[in-house]
Amino acid sequence: MPTSVKKPIVVVTRKLPDAIETRMMELFDARLNLDDRPMSPAELIEAVKVAEVLVPTVTDRVDARIMAQAGPQLRLIASFGTGVDHIDLATARQRGVTVTNTPGVLTEDTADMTMALILAVSRRLTEGERLVRAGSWEGWGPTLMLGHRIWGKRLGIIGMGRIGQAVARRARGFGLSIHYHNRRRVHPDIENELEATYWDSLDQMLARMDVISINCPHTPATYHLLSSRRLKLLRPTSIVVNTSRGEVIDENALAKSLAGRELAGAGLDVFEHEPAVNPKLLELDNVVLMPHMGSATIEGRIDMGEKVIINIKTFVDGHTPPDRVLEQMF
Ligand code: 8YV
Repeated sequence: MPTSVKKPIVVVTRKLPDAIETRMMELFDARLNLDDRPMSPAELIEAVKVAEVLVPTVTDRVDARIMAQAGPQLRLIASFGTGVDHIDLATARQRGVTVTNTPGVLTEDTADMTMALILAVSRRLTEGERLVRAGSWEGWGPTLMLGHRIWGKRLGIIGMGRIGQAVARRARGFGLSIHYHNRRRVHPDIENELEATYWDSLDQMLARMDVISINCPHTPATYHLLSSRRLKLLRPTSIVVNTSRGEVIDENALAKSLAGRELAGAGLDVFEHEPAVNPKLLELDNVVLMPHMGSATIEGRIDMGEKVIINIKTFVDGHTPPDRVLEQMF
């Protein structure tokens, strides 16, 4: 007769795809959040008091204050998502709590969203749609809704990791030339494949690009990387898109540059204080605003959930989970 093994208590903070929740119920003592109401800090504290494994998302701030309340049974934070800036990694390490994420499976979807934003801003897609829906379209006109061609322009990618490279591959198909700034220069084979030009100096790159795409993680080093000073280096014809984290851009300074037409446009999938959006941005026509949808495909979210499950299962079986996050990675 098989011996019954106690299943680990896994607290999942948000509603996940059904297939993932069902599998979690089979494998773990899973505590689901079927109402999908984001947890308050007090609820998160309750969660870490009982959870052996916590599955948070970007909407949960698992900071030192929350972790200080965790019981000794908390051993793993298996985050649903790639970015880990919502988790205090140093405190987790000090408390012996392992952290994992879900890299790789949302690369292509996020790169698609980046490309969609580049096109939407350059070709004024959402402005055009608003015109039609408002019933204000009076018919085709030779000078109606003129945007800008992207073919032949220069794209500067900030952060040439998996997502940055996937953006570059797509952008080449649209006739953009690839430039990038990264902490480390990528392998020459990748540079050759993408015909990418490396800029050691971010300032130098910014001043020369038509499109800037933010694809780096948010870390203390990248907080407000696009500062007010750096935004001023951009040309007034250039556009900025961000599918990474809002904190990488000084959002107030961005809104000011856009309002003053020191910058032609922006496409933002992420914001500094989500879900709040800087009211100044809402007033502007030259901005496309998305509610953090970069990885929002059914396939992507299932793949993310599968990765979470694999990380938990490997960990509880006594092995190092495949997507273990270490502070020195950032
Ligand atoms: C996720 C993201 O949807 O993975 C990330 O870092 O930004 C998003 O695409 C979100 O983080 C899920 O927690």
